Amino acid sequence: MSSARPTVPVISSTAVFKEDIFKNKVLFCTGGGSGICKVMTEAVMRHGAQATIVGRNAERLEQAAKELSAATGRTCLAAPADVRQPKALHAAVQKTIDAFGRIDFVICGAAGNFLAPISGLSENAFRTVIEIDALGTYNTIKATLPHVRATRGAYVHVSATLHWRATPWQAHVSAAKAAVDATSAVLAVEEGPHGVRSNVLAPGPIGNTEGMRRLSPATKGGAADVWPTPLGRMGDAQDVANAAVWLFSDAANMVSGQRFAVDGASEHVRGIALPYPQSVLDPASMKDLFKGKL
Ligand code: COA
Repeated sequence: MSSARPTVPVISSTAVFKEDIFKNKVLFCTGGGSGICKVMTEAVMRHGAQATIVGRNAERLEQAAKELSAATGRTCLAAPADVRQPKALHAAVQKTIDAFGRIDFVICGAAGNFLAPISGLSENAFRTVIEIDALGTYNTIKATLPHVRATRGAYVHVSATLHWRATPWQAHVSAAKAAVDATSAVLAVEEGPHGVRSNVLAPGPIGNTEGMRRLSPATKGGAADVWPTPLGRMGDAQDVANAAVWLFSDAANMVSGQRFAVDGASEHVRGIALPYPQSVLDPASMKDLFKGKL
C-alpha cells in the first residue's frame, strides 16, 4: 500500500475573502511580534486593516512591525508592553488610538509555555504562566474594551486544545487556557448586547512555532510524522490566521462565545506525546524535555 495520501493545501485567506473587507479597521494584537500571532496580524492587514502589535521584546517588535508594514502596504505600529502590566497595556492602547483613532479587532495572543510536571513546577513558574496567559488576556480586554464597544468590534483569543483533556506536564498552561476560554465566553455574553463578539481559536500542533519547539524539542517542532492529523499534515500558522479572518469578518457576525480547534481533527485522535508513564515516574530521565528543578 502506498504511504502517500491526499492532504489539504495551506492557502491564503485572500484566495477566499475579498482583499478590502477590513478597510478602515484597526487590529490590536498581543504577541504579534512573532509566531502564529504575527501571521494572524499579517492576514488581517492583507485585508486592509492597520495594526498595533504588542510584545515584550521592543527590538523584535519594531522589526516585525516593519516587516508587516512592508508585506501588506498597511501601517503596523509596534507598542512594546508586557501584558502582565496593565499600565503598559493602557499606554499601548492609547498609542493605537493616537495613531489610528479606533480599535475594531483584538487578538489576545501573548502566551508562555514550557514542559514541566507539577512536581517540577515552582509556585512562581505556575503563577508566571497564569499571569501571562490568563491575567494578560484579562488585562488586554480591560484596556481595549471601551474602544471595541465603540466600534462594535470583536475579540479572538488564542488558546489551545491541550486542556480539553488532561495533558501531563502542562498543568500551568491548561489552567491558564481554561481561564482564557471561560473569560471569552463571559465576554461574549456580557458584551454581546453592546455589539461585541468574542471567540476562541485553539490551534493544534502548528509546525515551526516557538510553542512546538518548546513542546517537541527533539523534533525542533517541525516533524509532521510525530504529530499526525486526520487531514494529513501538521497545522500551519496560516490555517489559524485564516480562521481569525473568518471570525473577524461579517461572515461570522452571528458567531460568538465559541471555541474552535484549528487542528485538522487531531484532538480526536491525540495520544500522550510524552513517554508515559515514564515521564511522570522518572522526569529526571527526560533531560531533553525537562529543564527545571525537581
Ligand atoms: N521548567 C520549569 N520551570 C521553569 C521553566 C522550565 N522549563 N522555565 C521557567 N521556569 C520557571 C523559572 O524557574 C521561574 O521560577 P522560579 O522563580 O521558581 O525559579 C519561573 O518559571 C518564571 O521564569 P522567568 O524566566 O523568570 O519568567 P519570565 O517572565 O522571564 O518568562 C516564561 C516567562 C517562563 C513563560 C518564558 O518561557 C517565556 O518568556 N516564554 C514566552 C515564549 C513562549 O513560551 N512561547 C510559547 C507560547 S505557546
